[in-house]
Amino acid sequence: MAAIHPISDSAARHHAAALLRSGELVAFPTETVYGLGADATDESAVARIFEVKERPRFNPLISHVPSIEAAFALGQADARAETIAEVFWPGPLTLVLKRNATCPIAWLTSAGLDSIALRVPGAALARDLLIEVGRPIAAPSANRSGRISPTTADHVALELGDRIPMILDGGPCDVGLESTVLDLSGTTARLLRPGGISRSEIEALIGPVALAQAGETISGPGMLASHYAPDAPLRLNATACQPGEAFLDFGATLSGTAAQDLSPSGNLMEAAANLFALLRALDRPAVRRIAVAPIHLNGDPESGLAAAINDRLRRAAAPRG
Ligand code: TXA
Ligand code: MG
Repeated sequence: MAAIHPISDSAARHHAAALLRSGELVAFPTETVYGLGADATDESAVARIFEVKERPRFNPLISHVPSIEAAFALGQADARAETIAEVFWPGPLTLVLKRNATCPIAWLTSAGLDSIALRVPGAALARDLLIEVGRPIAAPSANRSGRISPTTADHVALELGDRIPMILDGGPCDVGLESTVLDLSGTTARLLRPGGISRSEIEALIGPVALAQAGETISGPGMLASHYAPDAPLRLNATACQPGEAFLDFGATLSGTAAQDLSPSGNLMEAAANLFALLRALDRPAVRRIAVAPIHLNGDPESGLAAAINDRLRRAAAPRG
């Protein structure tokens, strides 16, 4: 069972930071909801978030940082972003920005997208933890998929206590609702998720903000229409490679061929951690098509992380308009 310690205890924060830096998951309180934290730069640690939450799909996650400077070292800020950050950070607002060329955030954290979501939490002790970790922390709400977001450490313990080593307790969350998500990665500002900070408050500062189209928000039931997909078409459940194809293997099914393998040992956590980076590596102009081996857990393509991997592969393989 997870150890529960007050986040106000500096020794507990120190221990939590060490766990996070070593790739473990730690739940911690923010002013909105409790987050399930992992090192956002570590593909394997982020893969573990999806496993622990039993999320059936990979949606991009918010990276939490302790300051505006730390945020803008990762994402490209324009005048709009600077204005919003000055007014609303630290606080319950998330900005989606284009990633900087040197941004170390894992591809799984952004679900393969060129944009990243960033938040400086309002809770001061959460920022103290982030300073101590020294890395951006990816953190969706600390609940199992399909359950409500936890606002106390006890809720987290009920949801995930048997799956993670540590929960930091900060008492009940002040806001109790996830952050507003504002997309400033393009020329039109777009509200991707409503939250405590309203559209009109934002518009008063930067002018018109579009609402995301139905089906555009990744967390919503429709999911993001413009999800990451390689330029090359995908052929799924391939058992052999055809001319002009690059092969993305799983479990070393294609012996003797120079193929990239999501996980030679058939480990789904490893496959999830490698998924977006390998798709990007194989997506070269010389490649006519990417053939992907069947992804499954003991023959079941919908079990555990196989479901999320196959969901994303199906989306990437779907015909595009
Ligand atoms: O209040 C909160 O935001 C909580 C606490 C723990 O900070 N965190 C949270 O994280 O709700 P998460 O990962 O569950 O929320 C991610 C939201 C989703 O709506 C997702 O679609 C959006 O951010 N998002 C993240 N990255 C994005 C990107 N690159 N492009 C578009 N939307 C993105
Ligand atoms: Mg949630």
